Amino acid sequence: AAADADTPGVATRRVQVRRQEGQGDTAASAGSGRLAFANAPDTDAAVEPNRRWGAALLGRAVECAGPERLADAGEVQAVSADVRRAAREWAGLGATGRAAVLHRVGDEVERRRGELLGVMAQECGKTLEQGDPEVSETVDFARYYAGRAEALETVAGACPVPVGLTVVTPPWNFPVAIPAGETLSALATGSGVVLKPAPEAMRCGSLLAEIAWSAGVPREVLRCVDVDEEGAGQALVAGEEVDRVLLTGAWETAQLFRSWRSDLPLLAETSGKNAVVVTPSADVDLAVRDVVAAAFGHAGQKCSATSLVILVGSTARSARFRRQLVDAVRSLRVGSALDPASQMGPLIRPAEGALLAALTRLEPGEQWWVEPQRLDAEGLTWTPGVKAGVAPGSTTHLTEFFGPVLGVMVAADLDEALALQNATDYGLTAGLHSLDPDEVEHWAPHVEAGNLYVNRGTTGAVVRRQPFGGWKRSSVGPGWKAGGPHRLHGLVDWRDAPS
Ligand code: SER
Repeated sequence: AAADADTPGVATRRVQVRRQEGQGDTAASAGSGRLAFANAPDTDAAVEPNRRWGAALLGRAVECAGPERLADAGEVQAVSADVRRAAREWAGLGATGRAAVLHRVGDEVERRRGELLGVMAQECGKTLEQGDPEVSETVDFARYYAGRAEALETVAGACPVPVGLTVVTPPWNFPVAIPAGETLSALATGSGVVLKPAPEAMRCGSLLAEIAWSAGVPREVLRCVDVDEEGAGQALVAGEEVDRVLLTGAWETAQLFRSWRSDLPLLAETSGKNAVVVTPSADVDLAVRDVVAAAFGHAGQKCSATSLVILVGSTARSARFRRQLVDAVRSLRVGSALDPASQMGPLIRPAEGALLAALTRLEPGEQWWVEPQRLDAEGLTWTPGVKAGVAPGSTTHLTEFFGPVLGVMVAADLDEALALQNATDYGLTAGLHSLDPDEVEHWAPHVEAGNLYVNRGTTGAVVRRQPFGGWKRSSVGPGWKAGGPHRLHGLVDWRDAPS
């Protein structure tokens, strides 16, 4: 299949084609010997040893002090100023010195994998199957950004200069890998960091900071804080002394940050509404497996999740895709994240608004292939749902639900499927299942998304191999992709090199 040139940024995509050797060739997964996957596992046989090993870890009480609570804007400003000051010495260590510390962070994350899995399950409902590759990704980020910092050099007469203060505001759905990736990338460049974990993932963020400190990141250079979202939160994000803000969250949150300070140096990874096209030439077994894993992993609570499947031509008319999809979805084991057998855990909060409507109602023309069931009184735990007959332009077509519901659309041909795929405001991930190289070649240049996957699920981008970032409303600010070779370019200032 087509692959792009090796240039970075929003204008760049790399088409990811499933490789025969599996998806877990990252440093962490190769090193541990027991992690056979960095995305959906290939077989139950590959998973079982992980489940047995993880079972012992999930129940373990995890010691974690929690972030420091800042009461008001004055305290926020004092912390920001302290970090900025301390960052000078950190920057003075040089890229090689900082890289050595980051490598130790990677080692320490690997050593404390069990605690991270435990706290992710306890605090955020992340199952072992989902949490385990997330820890591997965290290790990969540490090692990758260490290497990229050492490689950062003068470009076209401009040299990189560390900034003083980066504020990191990650989400709760990847409560370890995203705060780690953002924090470590900034630290790698020589910046100080104030990390404010998501309110739902404070212990995860705080444990991560403790691990980083224990590996040698100075406490003065990395602070982990809790603030009210308004008031002190605004002072944290929009203070004049802030050099970079790294946000992963809703597009609306990025707009709110911008409304606080119009010149905010913001790099934001925002929402997604991601579709997978399945053509008549697809391997149906593979397509069903990938769609189910990417639609319902972590209960669909991923910006990269597959939210729509678009069946082309005879695929839509054949009973086979429907039968296999329905069987696979019904077979998913839903339960507590503390049970290592669970394939889908609870939602982060009871379903409400558009998600609740999507789980309980049909729009005109829609029918349930699999109707979701609420498993508790609060509406936290749901079985997965699949609704077919989704109409172009409907809420199911265009709205991000961030939960375990998949819409099925049909298209007469690949061009119609592309039009449906591109109709949303977002452009994060997109998939194609097709074994026909001509279809792949036609599809790739026309689809509007940052991460394209051919014959592979749309979630679980692997650091270095699949730099991650979107187009349209899926990204705000310079689009240097996370886990990609030029990410650090967006995190430094550029000054004229001495001639
Ligand atoms: N990088 C994640 C994925 O690819 C999303 O943040 O699923």
